[in-house]
Amino acid sequence: MGRLYVTTPIYYVNDAPHIGHAYTTVIGDAICRWHRLQGDDVVFLTGTDEHGLKVAQTAEANGVTPQEWADRTVERFREAWRLLQIANDDFIRTSEPRHHLAVQRFLQTVYDNGDIELGTYEGPYCVSCEAYYAESELVDGCCPIHGIPVRLMKEENYFFRLSRYQDRLLRWYEDNPEAVQPATKRNEALGFIRQGLEDISITRTSLTWGVPVPWDDRHVFYVWYDALINYATAVGYGADPERFALWWPVVHHLIGKEILRFHCVWWPAMCMAAGIDPPHRVFVHGWLLVGGEKMSKTRLNQIAPRDLVADFGVDGYRYHFLRDQAFGPDGDFSYERMVDRYNADLANNLGNLLSRVATVVERKCGGVGPKPQDGSPLQSVAAEAYRATDEAWRRFAPSDALESTWRLIRETNAYLEANEPWRAEAGPGVDSVMGDALETLRIVAVLASPAMPAACAELWRRIGLPGRPQDQRLPGAAAWGGYPGGLPVERGDPLFPRKQ
Ligand code: ME8
Ligand code: MG
Repeated sequence: MGRLYVTTPIYYVNDAPHIGHAYTTVIGDAICRWHRLQGDDVVFLTGTDEHGLKVAQTAEANGVTPQEWADRTVERFREAWRLLQIANDDFIRTSEPRHHLAVQRFLQTVYDNGDIELGTYEGPYCVSCEAYYAESELVDGCCPIHGIPVRLMKEENYFFRLSRYQDRLLRWYEDNPEAVQPATKRNEALGFIRQGLEDISITRTSLTWGVPVPWDDRHVFYVWYDALINYATAVGYGADPERFALWWPVVHHLIGKEILRFHCVWWPAMCMAAGIDPPHRVFVHGWLLVGGEKMSKTRLNQIAPRDLVADFGVDGYRYHFLRDQAFGPDGDFSYERMVDRYNADLANNLGNLLSRVATVVERKCGGVGPKPQDGSPLQSVAAEAYRATDEAWRRFAPSDALESTWRLIRETNAYLEANEPWRAEAGPGVDSVMGDALETLRIVAVLASPAMPAACAELWRRIGLPGRPQDQRLPGAAAWGGYPGGLPVERGDPLFPRKQ
C-alpha cells in the first residue's frame, strides 16, 4: 500500500472558476481516485488564495471587509468542485487561523536561521498589479500590463536571502532529477537558477490584509509567501509533526506553467531555509487556450465549467479534459472537438458497447447476464489494458491512461462484430460471447471510474453488480472472471446520448 499527497494551486478567490482552474483540479482528482482504487492512502488538497491587495480593494469597493468578501467568493469554487464531483480531502483557505499559524511558524524558523533580513526596496511599482517592475520591463515608462504610469516606490521590506540558495538548489535538482516534470520544465527551472538568484522581498507595510509578520507587526507577508506555505499547513506543519512527517515526503504539486518559478525556485529554497525537504514532485502543465489565447477577464474569453456540464454532463466534461490534451503542452480548447470526441469515445465506443450488450442479453439470454469464459480471447487484452492504464496513471498521464482503457472497449466491440451474437441462435455460443463482453464492461467500469465516477457507477448498476466501481480494489478488480453471471442486465436509455 502506498501513500500519496496531491495538491492543486490555491486559486485566487477573486476570480470566477473557469475551465483552466478546473483542468488542474479534475486531473488531480482523477489521479487520486486511481490511487484510492489501488488501496493507497491519499490526501487530495485544493483551496483558495485569499490575501493581497486585489481582494482588499474589491472588498472595499463592495463595502465589506476582506474576510466577508472572501467568505462570499470562496463559495464559487466550492460550488464548481461539487458540480465536477471533485473528491478533495481538504479545502484550504489562506485566511484560516490554521494557516496563519503555520505561516508564522515557518517564516519565523527561516528568520531565526538568518535567511530573512531587513532591507529597502526601491523601484517602479504598478498599483493595479500590486507589483514592482524592473525598469527594463516598462513600456514607455508605463506598466506593461495596464499601460498606466508607474510610481517610484521605496519601502522597508524584509528580504528572503534567495541568493544564498543557488548552489544548494542546483545540487538538489542534480540529486533529484525527477523532482520537476516534464523534463522541459525542469530545464526551465534550472535555467532560472543558473541565471543567478536575487534576494526577494517577502513583506509589505502598505496593507494589513495578510498574515502578520510575527517579529514585526508593521508588516504582513507578501501574498505569494503565505500562499506557497498552504501545502505544508494542510498536512500539519507546525501543529502536528507526526502527520506532517507522514505526508510531506509524498507531496506532488500540480501547477500551470506560469507559476513554475514560484514552485520550482522560490518554494524549494524556502523549504530548505525552514529545514524541511523541498517538494518531492512538481508536475507542470501547459495552458488551455481559447481561440489561441489564454483565458482572462479582460479578453472575456473565460468558459465556466457549468456551461459545458450543461451540454455534456459531468462525466462527459471530466472525460474530455482528461483525455483531450496531454498533460504538459498547451492545447486549444475547441467546442467542436469536444463534440467529436464525446460522440466517438463515449456515445459510440462505450455507449454503444453497453447498449449492444444489454440488447442482446435481453433478447437472447432472457435479460440475465452470463458468465465470462475462462481463456477468452479478451482476457489477455484486458490484462494488457490494465497494465498500461495503471502505468499511465502512475506517471500522471491521464490521457494515455484513458487511451489504454479505451483500447479494451474498442477490442470488445470488434470481438462482438466478429462474432455477431445478434445474428446467432440463442445458446451457449451467444452466452459465452456475452459473458466476455459483460466482463470487459465490468473491468472498464472500474478502470474508467476515476475519470467518470457517476457514469461508471451507472454502468456497473446496469450490468447488475452491487455497490460501486469506485469502491473496488485493484489489481483484483481488474482480474478476468470477476463478473459472476446470473445478474439482471438493464437496457435503459443511452448512457451518453449522441450530440449533433
Ligand atoms: O496563480 N489552462 O492562482 P490562479 C490551464 N493563487 N490551467 C489554468 C489556466 C489555463 N488557461 N488558467 C488557470 C494563482 N489555470 C495563485 C497560486 S499556489 C501556492 C498560488 C490553473 O487563480 C493552473 O493550475 O491564477 C494555474 O497554475 C492556476 O489555475 C492559477 O490559478
Ligand atoms: Mg493566474
